Amino acid sequence: GAPVEVNISKLEPGQLIRVEWRGKPVWVVRRTEEILKGLATLDDKLRDPGSNEEQQPAYAQNAVRSIKPEYFIAVGLCTHLGCSPTYLPDTFGEQVEGVASGFFCPCHGSKFDMAGRVFQGVPAPLNLVVPPHQYIDDGNVIIG
Ligand code: FES
Repeated sequence: GAPVEVNISKLEPGQLIRVEWRGKPVWVVRRTEEILKGLATLDDKLRDPGSNEEQQPAYAQNAVRSIKPEYFIAVGLCTHLGCSPTYLPDTFGEQVEGVASGFFCPCHGSKFDMAGRVFQGVPAPLNLVVPPHQYIDDGNVIIG
């Protein structure tokens, strides 16, 4: 499949846009400072906080799992059986206490933080996949 160029210049803090790449949904989310601070507090609730288990781009193997901390880019498919998780920007606390926002998979209840890292005790075995991508300038990123 061809690479997909995404204009992120109008993305508001907290907003998620969805594009299609190789027949899969890919999300681009703009994270706030508050969200980024929250990520640093979750290690003991996560299965693999440093993304050490995964064959993914090297730039995904850190706590924020991205090239630019402000933007999170992931394939929007649950690593359990491939349903598409729901972005809960304000109501994730009902799923994981103390966590304001994240991704919830409606199929079997897997939960992921704002870096796509899977919480403990759910069926999904791995963090969400970060696709290969690169920024061509401040407002545009190429997926693929
Ligand atoms: Fe997401 Fe099963 S497919 S929890």
